[in-house]
Amino acid sequence: MEIFQADTEIFAGIDTEKVLDQISCKKYFFMTDPMMEKIGMSKKIEDILKRKGIVYEVFSEIEVNPSLDSIKKALEKVVEFSPEKIIALGGGSTLDSAKAVSYFMGRSGIELPVIAIPTTCGTGSEVTSYAVITDMKNMVKIPIKDNKMIPKIAILDPEFTKTLPKSVVADGGIDALTHAIEAYTSKGANLYTQIYALYAIKTIFKNLLKMFENIADRDSRVEMGKASCIAGFSFEKAGLGINHSIAHNIGGKFHKAHGRANGVVLPYVIRFNSTDLETARRYYEIAKELELPANTIEEGAKSLAIAIEVLNERLGIQSCVRDLGVEESLYRSLIPEMAEVAMNDICTSGNLKRVTLEDMKNIFEMIY
Ligand SMILES: [Fe+2]
Repeated sequence: MEIFQADTEIFAGIDTEKVLDQISCKKYFFMTDPMMEKIGMSKKIEDILKRKGIVYEVFSEIEVNPSLDSIKKALEKVVEFSPEKIIALGGGSTLDSAKAVSYFMGRSGIELPVIAIPTTCGTGSEVTSYAVITDMKNMVKIPIKDNKMIPKIAILDPEFTKTLPKSVVADGGIDALTHAIEAYTSKGANLYTQIYALYAIKTIFKNLLKMFENIADRDSRVEMGKASCIAGFSFEKAGLGINHSIAHNIGGKFHKAHGRANGVVLPYVIRFNSTDLETARRYYEIAKELELPANTIEEGAKSLAIAIEVLNERLGIQSCVRDLGVEESLYRSLIPEMAEVAMNDICTSGNLKRVTLEDMKNIFEMIY
């Protein structure tokens, strides 16, 4: 049986004001982060709402890793203000925060749909049912998953990605690529999720470097916005794999950007997973689609790993954990713990190739 249902209405490459014109809402809770305020992006939304004479309240106390405390604060304001909808403008953290607020309101019987306007191209959070919140007191990340959290509307407006720093373009783009490749090769993949994943992979290979090298190129920003969103659709349904399980540890333990950690790990994981014939065959299919050398399954899988190494290099993404500036003795001492945590990460269960704790330790050794 194969099921595919997309729940978010997507507006791509369009002016946000035109989309908001079509939505009937008299009272918005507008969630954004301090950076968006600083660079004047949030003002663009406020100007639209002012022009339309819509009542709104701004909440911009969102951290890089959104905490339970800031969600609580936002919830208190929402209860006091009683808006009809949330507009979320920002990266994954802001969208996740808005989704969490919507989730908790929903638990108390109040529906609060989210309109997501991503300002990075990567997480796919605008179409997924996941949000990650950090409990600062106990220093644990709390993943929430609920279909009701999927944003009702996503606006992929290239206006909001035109000042992205290069490193953020690289990290986001490679994160989206990892989503698509892991989704294509995951246990939960089916025809529908694979069509989405393959489209995302091709689009990212065609546009990520263009966007990285020239952020003024509107077309590549539009295409990357669509690709990361479509990759999000795909992994939402198909799941991910050990690349994310490993990257979650590198990111969490050494405070490295999520996308960057994924990019560093990706070629190693492709080579490891290629020892499984079915996974290798899927890498080969991707390689063929990208017109890489792929006369045999083995050659195709190898070509994909090499193509990602080349892409990483051009994006300035390091080729090993050492080059991320992680100290060796500390890293090595943490391998047993990280391998254990990675084994229990929810993404590991989606990996087609069976992985043992020993395998996991070996991969952690190799990537250093
Ligand atoms: Fe990711």
